[in-house]
Order: sequence, then C-alpha cells, then structure tokens
Amino acid sequence: MLDIHSHFLPKMDDGSKSVEMSLEMLRSSKAQGVTTMVSTSHFYGSQEDPDTFLKRRAKSFAALEPHLTDDCPEILFGSEILYYPGISQSEVIQKLKIEGTDLILIEMPFVKWSDRIFEELITLQYYSSLRIILAHVERYQSIQSKRVFENLFDQPFYFQCNAEAFTSSKSRKLALKMIDNDRLHFLGTDCHNTSSRQPNMNEAKRVIEKKLSPGAWRQLNADFEHRFNRHRIKE
Ligand SMILES: [Fe+2]
Repeated sequence: MLDIHSHFLPKMDDGSKSVEMSLEMLRSSKAQGVTTMVSTSHFYGSQEDPDTFLKRRAKSFAALEPHLTDDCPEILFGSEILYYPGISQSEVIQKLKIEGTDLILIEMPFVKWSDRIFEELITLQYYSSLRIILAHVERYQSIQSKRVFENLFDQPFYFQCNAEAFTSSKSRKLALKMIDNDRLHFLGTDCHNTSSRQPNMNEAKRVIEKKLSPGAWRQLNADFEHRFNRHRIKE
C-alpha cells in the first residue's frame, strides 16, 4: 500500500519533531499495511529555493536513516509544493518531483482561486512533462464556490484525498463520490505526528470497506499502486 503524502522527516517542517517520533510514525504506517511512504515535506517557493530545501531534506534524512529497521516502509522523497504565481516559469521545480517518477504534489492556496491558477498549472504540466497531483482536494471544498470547486474535477490533474476525508462528516460524501466517479487517483495520510495528525490509513480502510464493499479497499490500493508505477521513470 502506498501513502503518497506524509510529513515524517524529523525537524523538516511542521511534521515530526524528532527521530523517535519519525520512527513511531513509520512503524505505525507499516503496521497498517503501508509498504511505500512518500515524504512530502512542505516547500514554500516564496521562502526557500529548491537546492536549500534539498540540502535540509538530506540532513534530516541523515539523522533518521541509521535508525531505520525492517518494520519501516520503503521511503521515497518528494515534496508538497504550495502553488505560487510564476511556478510554471520555474526551471528548477523538476528537482522537487517524487523520486524516480514524473509526479509532483501541489497544494493549492487556501484562498478563492482565479482561473489563472488553473491556466498556470496546466502550463506547468504541459511544458515540464510533469504530472501534477493536487493534494488533499477535500480541504478546499468549503473555501471555493460550488462552481469553482466542481470545475476542479474537469482539470487534467490527478486528485489526492487524505485518509481523513473518509472519516470527517464534512468530506466523506465527496470522497466516496470521487471513488464512484474515478476521480480519486491517490490516497495519503498527510500525517504530521503521533497524536493529532497520526498515520491513519486504518480509518479510511474501515469506512471504505463498510460503505463500499469488503474488497473495495484492496482494489483501490491496487489501482493507486498501478497508477503510481506507471509514472516511474525507466532508467
Ligand atoms: Fe501535507
């Protein structure tokens, strides 16, 4: 099982605060069936350049790596890039894609979106040969108008929900509808710690198996993994 969105690297962003916490998050994830975990620490283009981010990330992982054991999932490196005007003109954005793939995880701004944002992201996707995954789409529902939010699903991107989307009464209906409409392309936990935002794939599993069918969880995860593997770059 793939967790495509997480913040487990120690002292990298607002996620894990220590190596011990990172290990607890990784072990809990593996115990819940996660075999591959993508590290998607926050990247804010207005505050940092990609090379500085990558150096910080390498340093954070160097602290964690000696402690990794077989009860931790495989780790892949990526980032969660907050959209910023001009992102489509950035030649270095390639450095932030998910390791070994052409996928890039983008967080939309938590303000009302203009059409220009979509135009710019489509430009980025087209000219960079990257495939954009929009992070935790359920979190934007309450901010956008119904028209703008529905328009989101006509865009040529992949859509990711957090596991929490299935447990929250505010977003469960949307998340289940996205499965129905083949609009849920990836699932992540967006875990940040071991308390308020802990690894919680089990919770999504419980809801999906109950609301859809006992085999639905397994099938969905097979679909997510298959999709992910199609985007692995052949060396
Ligand atoms: Fe996140």
